[in-house]
Amino acid sequence: MQTIVIANPKGGSGKTTLATNVAGWLAGKRQRVAIDDRDPQQSASGWLGRRPALFPPIAALGPEARRKDAKVLDLQWRVVDTPAGLHGEELREAAREADQMLVPLTPSAYDMVAAERFLATVAESKAVRQRALPVGIVAMRVDARTHSATELDEFLAGFDFPVIAHLRQTQVYVWCARVGASVFDLPRSRAEQDWEQWKPLTRWVAKHADVREQRTGNR
Ligand SMILES: Nc1ncnc2c1ncn2[C@@H]1O[C@H](COP(=O)(O)OP(=O)(O)O)[C@@H](O)[C@H]1O
Ligand SMILES: [Mg+2]
Repeated sequence: MQTIVIANPKGGSGKTTLATNVAGWLAGKRQRVAIDDRDPQQSASGWLGRRPALFPPIAALGPEARRKDAKVLDLQWRVVDTPAGLHGEELREAAREADQMLVPLTPSAYDMVAAERFLATVAESKAVRQRALPVGIVAMRVDARTHSATELDEFLAGFDFPVIAHLRQTQVYVWCARVGASVFDLPRSRAEQDWEQWKPLTRWVAKHADVREQRTGNR
């Protein structure tokens, strides 16, 4: 099982949007996937509850029997949505569990300052240093080739983490959140532009999953 941890200590940075859409992408690829919602606000769980039964299924991992549930469901993927304020030991623990980490980041000065300590902690964690945990930054609410995107790139130059996608600001994500959908559940006519923006992200996730499978064998 591959565990993708979505983290950024700032509320509203796009964690749940990323978690639900990553899970939606995997489900659409007929993968056995679950969302592990660690946020007391339970936004991702609410989204799962609203998800139409006809859409590709995504399981929920409960807080009590996570390991057992994962086994029973024979999961291929677990997507962990984390709460705001994640730091210190809790953050290091999340990094230990992760096979990959995705960090949504909005290119506003406030968000970048807030992310700085978080990214430094991640970079210094044993998980990153010893296991070479892949960490990908997802630029949220921004188009590539804009001034904001450049600012974000400059800010990230001090870290070893790549920007693996730029996702635009659009009501499509807001609408999806409301109805339990991901952009991958929408018809091409509505989501083609967003599918295009997700391509480098999904490629990055798939590539790192393969590497890990080869390294550790099938777990
Ligand atoms: N790319 C985007 N375009 C438009 N709205 C977005 C986008 N990403 C996130 N949002 C909206 O911003 C709000 C906060 O995002 P959310 O994923 O809940 O953040 P977090 O989980 O980090 O608190 C939500 O209402 C979500 O629908
Ligand atoms: Mg959230």
